[in-house]
Amino acid sequence: MLPPDFLDEIRARIALSEIVGRRVKLTRAGREHKGLCPFHNEKTPSFTVSDDKGFFHCFGCGAHGSIFDFVAKTENVPFIEAVEKLAGQAGLKMPARTPGEAERAAKVEGLVGVLELAARWFEAQLAGNAGQLARDYLKKRGVSAEAVRRFQLGFAPDHRTALKEALIARKLSEAQLLEAGLLVKPEDGGATFDRFRLRLMFPIADRRGRVIGFGGRTLGDHKAKYINSPETPIFHKGKNLYCAALAREAIREAGTVIVVEGYMDVIGVASAGIPNVVAPLGTALTEDQMRELWRLTPEPIVCLDGDAAGQRAAYAAAERALPLLQPGHSLRFAFLPEGEDPDSHVQHAGRDGFRAVLDAAKPLSAVLWEARIKGRRFEEPEARAALDRDLKQMVARIADPTVRTYYDTAMRERLWQAFGVGAAVRSSRGPGRDPPPNRGPGFRAGGPGLRVGPPPPLSPTFRRERLLVVTVVNHPALIERIAEEFAALPLKDNDLDALRAAILDIAGSGARVQGLDSAGLREHLTNKGFTRALERLSSGPGALIDRFARPEAPLEAAEIGWRHTFHLHRRAVTLPTEVEAAARAYADNPSGETKARLDALKEEMKAAVDEGAANDLAAASGRDVTI
Ligand code: UTP
Ligand code: MN
Repeated sequence: MLPPDFLDEIRARIALSEIVGRRVKLTRAGREHKGLCPFHNEKTPSFTVSDDKGFFHCFGCGAHGSIFDFVAKTENVPFIEAVEKLAGQAGLKMPARTPGEAERAAKVEGLVGVLELAARWFEAQLAGNAGQLARDYLKKRGVSAEAVRRFQLGFAPDHRTALKEALIARKLSEAQLLEAGLLVKPEDGGATFDRFRLRLMFPIADRRGRVIGFGGRTLGDHKAKYINSPETPIFHKGKNLYCAALAREAIREAGTVIVVEGYMDVIGVASAGIPNVVAPLGTALTEDQMRELWRLTPEPIVCLDGDAAGQRAAYAAAERALPLLQPGHSLRFAFLPEGEDPDSHVQHAGRDGFRAVLDAAKPLSAVLWEARIKGRRFEEPEARAALDRDLKQMVARIADPTVRTYYDTAMRERLWQAFGVGAAVRSSRGPGRDPPPNRGPGFRAGGPGLRVGPPPPLSPTFRRERLLVVTVVNHPALIERIAEEFAALPLKDNDLDALRAAILDIAGSGARVQGLDSAGLREHLTNKGFTRALERLSSGPGALIDRFARPEAPLEAAEIGWRHTFHLHRRAVTLPTEVEAAARAYADNPSGETKARLDALKEEMKAAVDEGAANDLAAASGRDVTI
């Protein structure tokens, strides 16, 4: 922990406006400064800086914070590093550490020094005579001289002790080189020798850009194509990302980071003009690395091969991410064409071709769903039940309660879309049509005993409308969850429309929805004169309502059922207009494209009508609707 006086001392020595002024053109406005906000796009300044208060504030996007926050945000570094930076500028030394901490820090600095020296030496080898072979290789792979410089690529010659000798000649000890992971000590006690031989060398830096280890690609016929530094006091291959420091500014600018598999992929993609790219260090993406990625940006894109292995890697990463999810933190997965890796694809397809792959990235929730349905069949109820259970277990692994709730809803919605009401009985009756009057005459006729012969069929539209309203009357606690949709629901039936208005009125006017039960709501509605409307909700032909709508159904089931029905209803109501518009577009401009759109909509319309009819049948037979 940093002592607060230390932060105050920095604040006292450096004016916020001076630091902000390096990035934003500021003009004085009274006691404050004003400028264009660096955190969102704007044309008129709503970003203010107050040296007195020590805060910046944007009235446009709400960005707000101290001098440390400003540096952390604009330079994309952790808070503590912002403090270090500013302390340096203020001419202050960071507060003393405990003896243990100080010792560790000294050791880290010592090791970093060793590795930096080694990196310089590898670079020199690549540039020198011995490096010809490696330079030819890089040329063949399309790696430019500029990339060699930027990534500080090097070469470890084919010699048992070249590095050892060179660095010992520079007064480093064998023990230091061993601890840095640059030498290997044979088990039989023989002399130490260079770990990296005849390899192209990729220095790996930490978050701050200090070299902490190496990756080395063979240029000969070693069994291992790549080897990495071993775990050392400063190198942890599960905790660092290749090029995190180098890509940081580009990540901030692009607002996203692309995660590829290998070192050569990072270099290829960055060289093609997509510099916001990093890679793990020879392992699958670890939890620590995911956290690191989320420090940089809310939604990293993991780029994987398009083959089965890439898909497996995506599934595994998705599962590992679950417990770590936070509101606003997610992952996306982009899949390359089969047989390509990012390096080869960007070379063939160019920057735009690669961007297209990124644009098609799948969200995490889609990958999690896909992982559970791919290659499985769900004709039998047991299979669906198993899927339901798997999804619940998956959702339960999300630690954050908010994210968990939303995933729960999202997965239930997917279930409904896949196997929702009517799926089983679809097209057991031919396509139907809404009869012109929007309610069946039998409905108006009311009470039992008055009807002669079989009741005339109810229109699917009316059935859905009534179902949507009756669900709410039976489950007033739903109103809170679906208020917006309920208010926007297109209702053709005037009585139902009036009832809906009254319900919203009651819910909104003091009567606390949370405490309002169905009996209470009915009483309010009765007082307002809706007695008959309420009776009609649950009487007449087809009044056997779906299970989720019944008062005894769990609220969760009611919500899923309601949302599903809402989705069907809205589609049924808006589709005809869309078909009409598409038909007009086709008439105006008969092209393949307009025709395809019209055909697709007609097809969807037909499916919707079938579904509506199937729903009718299902409800008329009192089929239970549960999942
Ligand atoms: P790849 O085998 O896909 O290699 O390994 P690559 O990155 O495409 O390299 P080139 O194009 O053949 O030169 C991807 C990553 O997996 C790790 C490395 O980090 C590599 O960049 N790896 C691979 C190892 O750690 N060891 C290996 O033997 C192979
Ligand atoms: Mn490759």
